Amino acid sequence: MTDSDKAAWQEDARRDLLRNAGDRLALIVRGEGAHVWDDEGRRYLDFLAGVAVNSLGHAHPVFVEAVSRQAATLTPISNYFATPPQLALAARLKRLAGTGPSGRVYFGNSGAEANEAAFKLARLHGQATGGGSPRPRILALREAFHGRTMGTLALTGKSSMREPFLPMVPGVEFIDSSVEALEAALDDRVAALFVEPIKGEAGVVPLPDRYLTAARELTARHGALLIIDEIQTGAGRTGEWFAFQHAGITPDAVTVAKGIGGGFPIGALITFGAASELFYPGTHGSTFGGNALGTAVADAVLGEIENAGLVANAARRGIQARDAIAGIGSPLVAGTRGAGLLIGIALSAPVAKELAAAAQERGLIINPANESTIRIAPALTVGDAEIAEFIDLFTAALQDVAAATMKETA
Ligand SMILES: Cc1ncc(COP(=O)(O)O)c(C=O)c1O
Repeated sequence: MTDSDKAAWQEDARRDLLRNAGDRLALIVRGEGAHVWDDEGRRYLDFLAGVAVNSLGHAHPVFVEAVSRQAATLTPISNYFATPPQLALAARLKRLAGTGPSGRVYFGNSGAEANEAAFKLARLHGQATGGGSPRPRILALREAFHGRTMGTLALTGKSSMREPFLPMVPGVEFIDSSVEALEAALDDRVAALFVEPIKGEAGVVPLPDRYLTAARELTARHGALLIIDEIQTGAGRTGEWFAFQHAGITPDAVTVAKGIGGGFPIGALITFGAASELFYPGTHGSTFGGNALGTAVADAVLGEIENAGLVANAARRGIQARDAIAGIGSPLVAGTRGAGLLIGIALSAPVAKELAAAAQERGLIINPANESTIRIAPALTVGDAEIAEFIDLFTAALQDVAAATMKETA
């Protein structure tokens, strides 16, 4: 393919796609395992996996078989009916999240939809427990990300993202991610606290130690729901099925999406205990939510994560990758953050964009989560070969950026 062909797809994208995102980085045409290929036949090691989406890697036989089998069996049939895959996935999610028999599941098609449902759950709880005047307040954390729809944007703790779309859905207040801030903000007029256990979009920033334990105690004391957004951290990514399980707590609700579908769009709200009683017929729904195709694929993907021991693999490979990153010994790497295979690489200079571009030139996909953090979130299937390839390519990209920086300062 010539440069003019390359310019052609970029022109098409600039002309035909709404400008809600910047220029696309490449035209990706195919994926297999941990690799993808662009229209020019260039191979990339994909250490972002659709931002924590392709849990089994690309075109995994279990994923392909589940899509094909279910497409040939039954696709959406409306929410007037139940289907076996929907019931199987709900039961599996309840078991993996540890809800016990009183748990329930609502299905949507994305992370934002899962969080929208959680927002409505918070309002229903506020109505049900406000004693005649609904609890009006919802707490969320500064810098946390919960989605781009109007409800989830209102929950998102980045004012620059909210400002173009003011006015927001009312009632949400942002607090710092400290136990002291939570203690100071909580009262009996708070319906819910939303948290992201590791702030992925903000640069893979974990909550402070014991935050979730304290949040559980404090929200329970004030009768507020504790709602945990596991859209990026769920499905085994952090080395537990859900990141909240590292803290050994029981939340009131958890939202999941991304990795549970392994590449098929699906999201879910999982409720625990009394929170499972709040929705009643007519209060929420979605045409495609819980459809037979999406739920069959997610059930197969989660089944494969279980059968192949990929949660333990995420824990082990995460440590291996972080050790290997430290072992590069680059002065540009200041350290790593995160858990399992959700890793933030802190840089000693604000060169994340340049580094991601250099990596792409070398055939490696990584993500500049902010100006001085690289985020990696590879498939949970990665092993020695993929980590070795990552380290080779990342080392080369670091050297490219270091050399360019030296040239600039010379
Ligand atoms: C923590 C978190 N919450 C919510 C979302 C929104 O999910 P979606 O893009 O599927 O709507 C994301 C997506 O990046 C996320 O990382």
